[in-house]
Amino acid sequence: MMNLVLVGFMGTGKTTVGAALAASLGMKHKDLDHAIVESEGRSIPDIFADQGEAYFRGVETKCLAQLLDEDPQVLTTGGGAVLRQQNVEMMLAHGIVIALHATEEELIKRLENDSGRPLLAGGVAARVRTLMAERAGVYDFAPIQVDTTGKSLSDIVMEITNQVVERTQGGEQ
Ligand code: S3P
Repeated sequence: MMNLVLVGFMGTGKTTVGAALAASLGMKHKDLDHAIVESEGRSIPDIFADQGEAYFRGVETKCLAQLLDEDPQVLTTGGGAVLRQQNVEMMLAHGIVIALHATEEELIKRLENDSGRPLLAGGVAARVRTLMAERAGVYDFAPIQVDTTGKSLSDIVMEITNQVVERTQGGEQ
């Protein structure tokens, strides 16, 4: 077994789904944002405020590389972790990548009252719309694609598990 890497836009439920998937499969769960905060000793809003997004992306790539070496595990990532081609290649080389999706309307509803995501500062709905447009297609590289809108957590975990089993036990190439 290798890494099961969850990617997707902010608010698609990566951390919640990752924790439930790991528990269901008896695997450990690691979170990239959590590793970044630990490594930096400060919060994500503080990293962005102090040193900006480019610095954050550098730490993100470094922590991703370290975490991918700790397989087997369920690894959840931040929504922007796929923006660097280098990160995408590392994920594909070290695991099965699963992309979670939800409709724009659903994401705005889930993120409306969020204050821990610096990229949404200044108006969640407008920022979500802008970023979703800018990031269109960036999660398409993942071999497993799951729409979470209107589905229960247990259904999402089952859907991912079935697709992973199909891929690891002589299913699709
Ligand atoms: C980001 C998503 C966040 C976090 C940071 C940047 C992004 O993670 O990594 O605020 O660029 O989409 P979540 O997707 O877990 O919110």
